Amino acid sequence: MSNNVTVIRPLAGPLRGTAHVPGDKSISHRSVLFGAMAQGTTRLTGVLDSADVRSSMAAVSALGAQVNLEKQPDGSLAGTVSGWGKKGPKQPDGPIDCGNSGTTVRLLMGVIAPWDIKVELTGDDSLRRRPMKRITAPLSLMGATFAPADQETLPLIEQGTSALAPLSYESPVASAQLKTAIMLAGIFAKGRTQVVEPAPSRNHTELMLPQFGVKTQFEPCLAAVEGPQALVASTVDVPGDPSSAAFPACAAVLQPGSLLTLENVSLNPARIGFARVLQSMGAKVSLQQTGYAGKEPCGNIVVEYTPDLHGCEVAAEDIASMVDEIPVLALVAAHSSGRTVFHDVSELRVKESDRLAAILDGLAQLGVKACAQGDDLVIEGKPGLQAPSGLTFDSLKDHRLAMTWSLVGMTGGQPVNIVDFESVCISYPTFLQDMRRLSE
Ligand code: S3P
Repeated sequence: MSNNVTVIRPLAGPLRGTAHVPGDKSISHRSVLFGAMAQGTTRLTGVLDSADVRSSMAAVSALGAQVNLEKQPDGSLAGTVSGWGKKGPKQPDGPIDCGNSGTTVRLLMGVIAPWDIKVELTGDDSLRRRPMKRITAPLSLMGATFAPADQETLPLIEQGTSALAPLSYESPVASAQLKTAIMLAGIFAKGRTQVVEPAPSRNHTELMLPQFGVKTQFEPCLAAVEGPQALVASTVDVPGDPSSAAFPACAAVLQPGSLLTLENVSLNPARIGFARVLQSMGAKVSLQQTGYAGKEPCGNIVVEYTPDLHGCEVAAEDIASMVDEIPVLALVAAHSSGRTVFHDVSELRVKESDRLAAILDGLAQLGVKACAQGDDLVIEGKPGLQAPSGLTFDSLKDHRLAMTWSLVGMTGGQPVNIVDFESVCISYPTFLQDMRRLSE
């Protein structure tokens, strides 16, 4: 275990007032990538300034896009991306390092596929452990090649082709990264490319491509594009990230006296499953749509402290709508009476860390009974749960785990130690300051 330990102390008081969480990570990645693919200059506001989004910015710069995004007083990035458009991306000078970002590398594989360039893709230790065949297999069916052939993990060398074939693909997993990679390649293949999924994954790509002049067809579990088409520059205002909002929201549910409004968050139903689960646990959470950011519904999440939470069952087909929030929901389940079951959370094993194993380890430290029954996560809640003193949680350099276990220290009576807490910079760099400010 690394000795890079941060002590997280109890919050000064209840979480009260209003907060803006940073821009949505998935939408920020897409706005940068689509701007890079488009002809002309795209204007972006509200872009998340985080390590993962900077990986996408660096990647498209290496491929020839001009990225001029600057830090704004509210901490977001705003400015322009001038794309390569019809001339296509340039052959980069060296390997593209996608850092910790699965979204960058997987979407990039689809971006590169339709062009005659050869690109080496790599990432940090975590990303080099994550499965890539789910993307390389369908893109290979379309005509792209990957070396070493049949290798599951990065580094991989992708050779694109301007003779890409369209694909009708039945995906074995509900994954927006996989769906998006195929769709982005399919824009340039002659004919209809379609992805059918076992459950609906987030649909930001389907919603945003039409803003860049690309027609898409979609319904729950199906997305299609008719190629060839071209992207033209657009304007994107990125709403707040529901996955980041989930942390102050869950903290407010657990911290006595809290009443918090999280403003201008994406309320896309494919992302807001965590709020529905909190509601079925009896938590006082309400969603108030105020408008749209592009085609994304957005608005406020209002959360109140709820002392009498109870467990609930979450169906397998709903998991994709809260896939990144399950660690923090597991912590709320640990405080609830009765049993909570998350059905088929197998995808948690292949995130930035093995989050299923990490949840079980962390809950065991808290003295909460939890187990994996096959691919289901079962938690026996303990109302009135008090964390023992002196706990140390290893974040495994996984941002969602760092924030989840930090809530134990913030909302319990005892400080906790978090190893490699700095990983929060992947998605929510100002997390600690925001939480302190809201509780003072
Ligand atoms: C994302 C999709 C999800 C999610 C990730 C971001 C995206 O991954 O966990 O944080 O932006 O498309 P999967 O596609 O692997 O489910």
